[in-house]
Amino acid sequence: MREYPQSVLETENTVRDLKSKNHYFYLQQVDRIDGQYVYCDNRKMINLASYSYLGLLHHPDIDAYAKKAIDDFGTGTHGVRILAGTIPYHNELEKTIADFKKREAAIVYSSGYVTNLSAISTLFGRHDAVICDKYDHASIVDGCLLSGAELVRFNHNDLENLEKRLIQTQNHRSRCVLIDSVYSMDGDIAPIPEMIQLCRKYNAIFFVDEAHSLGVLGEKGTGVEEYFNCYGEIDILMGTLSKVIPSMGGYITADETLISHLKHRSRSFVFSAALTPANTAAATASFRVIQKETWRVHKLKENIEYFTSILRDQGFNLLNSQTAIIPLIIPDEEKTWQVCRFMQDKDIFVLPVVPPAVPPNTSRLRMNVSSEMTKEDMDYVIQTIFDANKVFQIL
Ligand SMILES: Cc1ncc(COP(=O)(O)O)c(C=O)c1O
Repeated sequence: MREYPQSVLETENTVRDLKSKNHYFYLQQVDRIDGQYVYCDNRKMINLASYSYLGLLHHPDIDAYAKKAIDDFGTGTHGVRILAGTIPYHNELEKTIADFKKREAAIVYSSGYVTNLSAISTLFGRHDAVICDKYDHASIVDGCLLSGAELVRFNHNDLENLEKRLIQTQNHRSRCVLIDSVYSMDGDIAPIPEMIQLCRKYNAIFFVDEAHSLGVLGEKGTGVEEYFNCYGEIDILMGTLSKVIPSMGGYITADETLISHLKHRSRSFVFSAALTPANTAAATASFRVIQKETWRVHKLKENIEYFTSILRDQGFNLLNSQTAIIPLIIPDEEKTWQVCRFMQDKDIFVLPVVPPAVPPNTSRLRMNVSSEMTKEDMDYVIQTIFDANKVFQIL
């Protein structure tokens, strides 16, 4: 047998251990998705693990436009954007994003992860400082590491600590504060207006990842700038086309000068294939649907309010979640696995998150609410959590 690095064997042991306890929930196959339900092992389950916050998957306008793009251009572009890979659908998507976000221009990449990796490492380098919230998404951190800039972390949503970091890094060539608008494990919202003030005071660039605020924050679901009424005050907005938008890809939107720089210099734009026609068209159509069907955004808010208020009233710990990502904290890791199995056995598709993905003693079930969930769905989930509490004492 080949001698693999120790880490390979450690993974094998971890997987074997979880499987032996019936706690292995990784890569579960979903056979069919039907709105807020998934079918696994011939069972219909309420889906609490999806980012389809507004239920746009299989929206007829989105599917139709994706199919038209395949009819027009086939399934691939056979190239990078700079070598005959740019089709009208790409330009249309970038214009749609820029208009939706009230910005001058946009660039799309092949995923949200690649967007952060590529944009951050193109914009910053050895003499700069990149200042990240401790809970920033891995793709932001990886982009910072790849950039070669000094990576400085501040405590989660802690403005005093951020100011300290800004003071500490005053001698760097340029500084950038990079945050998630909505945190993907806790569902809380960053204090963006105060951060804008700090960035101004210390002449730092402000970069905000909107993976979980697009379609969620603001009356029209256009994101953080609408929510905080701070249009144009964030320097760089990033988002993905794979969460609320049922497609694949990511974007940066900002002023023309910055986007032009990224289009000429970012390596994953220059050296990696263009988004497929269908993905591109689906994303464009999705932005239009969000604009047209604002009732989806309102319904999502109602569902979040209903679901979280009942659980909070009963004393369950949902941290400071204010959005569609709702963590049910079960500090004991073993119990988290057990409650997850209990809920899945009751046809609720929910998944656990345990350390080191989250801080010690904050293991959780990560529940995502969508606009499609009915009151009956939510009541069933809530009752099942109450039942789980009777068995496992998670309060
Ligand atoms: C905050 C945040 N940024 C970026 C990404 C990466 O996006 P994608 O899945 O499109 O690669 C994610 C994905 O989970 C995310 O949560």
